[in-house]
Amino acid sequence: MSRTPDARLREVVAAFVRHMHAFAREVKLTEEEFELGVDFLNRIGQSTHDAHNEGVLFSDAIGFSTLVCLLNNGQNGATETASALLGPFWRMHSPATENGGSIVRSETPGPALFANCRITDPDGNPLPDVEVDIWQASPVGLYENQDPGQADMNLRGKFRTDAEGRIWFRSVKPAGYPVPTDGPVGDLLRAQLRHPYRPAHLHFLCYKPGYKTLITQVFVDDDQHLESDVVFGVTRHLIGDFQQGVGAAPVPGIDGPWFRLTYDFVMEAGEAKLPTPPIR
Ligand SMILES: [Fe+2]
Repeated sequence: MSRTPDARLREVVAAFVRHMHAFAREVKLTEEEFELGVDFLNRIGQSTHDAHNEGVLFSDAIGFSTLVCLLNNGQNGATETASALLGPFWRMHSPATENGGSIVRSETPGPALFANCRITDPDGNPLPDVEVDIWQASPVGLYENQDPGQADMNLRGKFRTDAEGRIWFRSVKPAGYPVPTDGPVGDLLRAQLRHPYRPAHLHFLCYKPGYKTLITQVFVDDDQHLESDVVFGVTRHLIGDFQQGVGAAPVPGIDGPWFRLTYDFVMEAGEAKLPTPPIR
């Protein structure tokens, strides 16, 4: 690497090679294990396509995505971070939706959810005109891109904060779901005797020029897998307050239980940039 002109590339790749060599020495890697490792890596690539990203899933399942998230947010672990991993299911160009609108775009089971969120700067000043991208799995356990039974872009929407920094929308209360286990990550989880479940959550991506893009998730507070999330995404800060509604729902035509989520986000000054979408 000594002749590599790019200083950062030199540093990163040199450290990567050094650690890979140290890893092989530490475990005295056999030739069979080396072949298995290369095959595993190849299968991660072969399992990846427009609607699925096994590489992101693998990074998530070994806690690497969360580590990188924590290293780059919350002042390198010095303060509690409001960020969480992006995950493999964010799509760009989710439909612009008015405040008060619904992201339920086809028949979807589960109790209605009415979410009210507010975005401020660290001093508590409301931030208007923040683009807030929201996506979640259907309570059947699948994102719309995994499920031909759901309309395109079901449970995805993009909102814009008003002058008070607020967005509000209707959805369904999310349920936990298993990450896809039909690829090499599934083989790994089975070998580890780990369950494949994520606790129920909503994903948020908040974007406003002049502010560091906030990518995060808000978790349902009574989920049984909060302490064993297969991708290590949960922090105490990210557990939402889901209150079961009493009496009539805020809109007519809703039978059965309904829930309210109130959650506030803080965006720090910084560079606004979007991640590369893991799927199309
Ligand atoms: Fe998710």
